[in-house]
Amino acid sequence: MARVAREMVERSGINVDELVELLVKNASAELTTYYYYTILRVNLIGLKGEGLKEIAEAARIEDRNHFEALVPRIYELGGALPASMNDFHDISACPPAPLPEDPTNIEAMLKVFVNAERCAVRGYTQICNMTAGKDHRTYDLALAILNEEIEHESWFSEFLGEGPSGHFLRRGENSPFVSKFLK
Ligand SMILES: [Fe+2]
Repeated sequence: MARVAREMVERSGINVDELVELLVKNASAELTTYYYYTILRVNLIGLKGEGLKEIAEAARIEDRNHFEALVPRIYELGGALPASMNDFHDISACPPAPLPEDPTNIEAMLKVFVNAERCAVRGYTQICNMTAGKDHRTYDLALAILNEEIEHESWFSEFLGEGPSGHFLRRGENSPFVSKFLK
């Protein structure tokens, strides 16, 4: 634990135990979504499925990166991951992203993806609201993750025809915002 780092956050008026609980729940959402997206991605087949595979893969890898970036902050603030993977899965801030009954129904697949991203956008917005101007490191981290989640939501909602996202494919490395926390 980074004792003084935690002390500074406490002095800012944040309930650090509450913040750590949110970070752990969102870390769980990241790792479980990474797992469920792996199943969704391998089931993206055929003409329509192949078209989605690249953005699904970018979102999958970036969710794994989000988990990796959150873990050090959890421990810095005196928190820990649950000892049991089952317990970790079950406290996730977001519901599982299950494979639809008919994986060839691309619209159903897209809805699973976009709903998972929307849950993440809400979660990191909450953490940003809680830490802005108070816990600078967690705010910076949560904002970086939020940027990527918003892009993920835009990509999938565009495929659903909900409107232009203004984005194109990831050029180069994944996690353009979060990568500085992965060094
Ligand atoms: Fe994520």
